[in-house]
Amino acid sequence: MKPVKVGVLGLGTVGGGTVNVLKRNAQEISRRAGRDIIVTRASARDLSRERICSTEGISLSTDPLEIVNDPEIDIILELIGGTTLAKDLVLQAIANGKHIVTANKALIALHGNEIFAAAGEANVVVAYEAAVAGGIPIIKAIREGLSGNQINWLAGIINGTGNFILTEMRDKGRDFADVLAEAQALGYAEADPTFDVEGIDAGHKLMILASIAFGIPLQFENVFTEGISNITRADVEYAGELGYRIKHLGIARKTTKGIELRVHPTLIPERRLIANVDGVMNAVLVHADAVGPTLYYGAGAGAEATASAVIADVVDVVRTLTLSAKNRVPHLAFQDNAITDLSILSPDEIETTYYLRLTLEDKPGTLADITHILAKHNISIEAIIQKEPHHDETELPVIMLTQKTIEKEMNSAISAIENLSSVTGQVTRIRLETLG
Ligand code: HSE
Repeated sequence: MKPVKVGVLGLGTVGGGTVNVLKRNAQEISRRAGRDIIVTRASARDLSRERICSTEGISLSTDPLEIVNDPEIDIILELIGGTTLAKDLVLQAIANGKHIVTANKALIALHGNEIFAAAGEANVVVAYEAAVAGGIPIIKAIREGLSGNQINWLAGIINGTGNFILTEMRDKGRDFADVLAEAQALGYAEADPTFDVEGIDAGHKLMILASIAFGIPLQFENVFTEGISNITRADVEYAGELGYRIKHLGIARKTTKGIELRVHPTLIPERRLIANVDGVMNAVLVHADAVGPTLYYGAGAGAEATASAVIADVVDVVRTLTLSAKNRVPHLAFQDNAITDLSILSPDEIETTYYLRLTLEDKPGTLADITHILAKHNISIEAIIQKEPHHDETELPVIMLTQKTIEKEMNSAISAIENLSSVTGQVTRIRLETLG
């Protein structure tokens, strides 16, 4: 059979890694796919830049549109990132009848509905395994491996940069900014690193996972995101004393009222496997009705780890070239006419437990005022620790764990507590999940 011709848009970390692995493992990949897969064309903004891959035998161009419009190309690998040029190129390639493989989580989370509809019309596949959790085959696991289950919830460490920062703060007492700079130098961070630290990148990935878990349309605007930039070393230490680790989790949960979609720093019991996923590693814990909990762990970023997912998608596409569209795995796991617009809960309706850290004046009655406010909002206290004041200070750090409550109640209680004259500064609130 004649080889499948691939055009690569973007020869950066992921594009370069993909070219290398495709060349190195060509024989093994061809044995699996049933056809040889060769990169014949690639584009890059600056052709004079040093690359991690050899481009021998590949016709290079600075214009990705040339490749998208080349009738010889069967599959386009969109590895340039961003949501403007990437979107135009993908839609044009689809209109030209080409299959797409992309690692672009923002593109799928924000424009996936439109892209998949266009792909359906054109009878082509858009594959995006590399968009979530790098090399972990989590899309395949949920979309195919768990298709006999009802998925109850999933929780993931799906941003390597954020996890690296929290791990280094805890283990080495390093400062936030210093660790972020290192993650950028290592090539893990997004072009705009606020996407990593503010939970936007994890929000994109969570949206994709939730869509394929629950069969809902992509709707990134409904994902609640809170970043890790306010987490202090003190919080990391107090959480440790209480038997918890702080992780930046993406959580999607089906409740009787609707679906929770949220990304925020979260205390999780340190005995959970996922609490021990450190550094740039990613992990996704999926709780489904038949199989129970399953955990997927691996490298969430990096040239060859992401290339692994890109190439698996290329192989899948090659295998489906002879299948009619209706026999393929649906883009969002559920058949197009079975996607349901279930309601997404507003952040106010989230139900969870909380870690609270506040600073109080050391005088009688202050703690009673606080417990009174919590009681008024129907919030029960699970544990409370009052730390010793530093020798010349009159203010005490107090740490509390609460039982489950509704976010709206917690918001009101926190504002009332912050209004007490005996409370200094703001209350730090970190949500807590037992993930049991
Ligand atoms: N910036 C992302 C991360 C890269 O740190 O996880 C992989 O999506």
